[in-house]
Amino acid sequence: MAKIAPSILAADFARLGEDVKDVCSRGIDYLHIDVMDGHFVPNISFGASVMKSLNSIATVPYDVHLMIYNPDKYLEDFITDNTEYITVHYEACDDLAATIKHIKEAGAKAGVSIKPGTDPSVLDAYLQDIDMILVMSVEPGFGGQKFMDNSVPKIAYYKAKREELGLDYMIEVDGGVGSSNAHIVKEAGVDIIVAGSAVFKAADRTKEIEAIVQ
Ligand code: DX5
Ligand code: ZN
Repeated sequence: MAKIAPSILAADFARLGEDVKDVCSRGIDYLHIDVMDGHFVPNISFGASVMKSLNSIATVPYDVHLMIYNPDKYLEDFITDNTEYITVHYEACDDLAATIKHIKEAGAKAGVSIKPGTDPSVLDAYLQDIDMILVMSVEPGFGGQKFMDNSVPKIAYYKAKREELGLDYMIEVDGGVGSSNAHIVKEAGVDIIVAGSAVFKAADRTKEIEAIVQ
């Protein structure tokens, strides 16, 4: 079974607390927090204050996905008792090793994400220090896009590397995944599936979540 991290980007922001309370009651593993700066990606979502407003409502840990330049400048804002992972983009970091170290020193597990056009081998030198690899299966910036299947061999690549090197990082996939195609990423060996629209817009959220993870 895979784990699931619904992305609150697809929630109804006018009733965010209710939506978060609802999905947290349906057997999910993490809440995926999509933070966009309008520079690294062509969209602006929300910042740490919105995330923190959910601290008393969320009953699962946060999986924070920073789609921002200068993540070192802001990452402490996202550290709360609920924060488990802080994920930064390889493409947004000048000194990835230093940023990974910074995340850990700040008190979170360190995730690194690669965009659809990035070769998975760029992370080879960092694998022993990474707690989670987030493979993007859409161009970051927007929810509700179509799944890109060039993510599948990347998941398999990181799974093979993990075995070869005896490491234990998690592998996560993000973008365009729902019950109709989750089997493709599970077969490739993914550990955590991010799903925004598929979960929040489902007529029966519990059924959709179960179908994605099973
Ligand atoms: C895209 C975000 C994703 C997105 C997923 O930039 O990182 O987390 O919200 O949404 P869906 O599942 O709707 O593709
Ligand atoms: Zn995301």
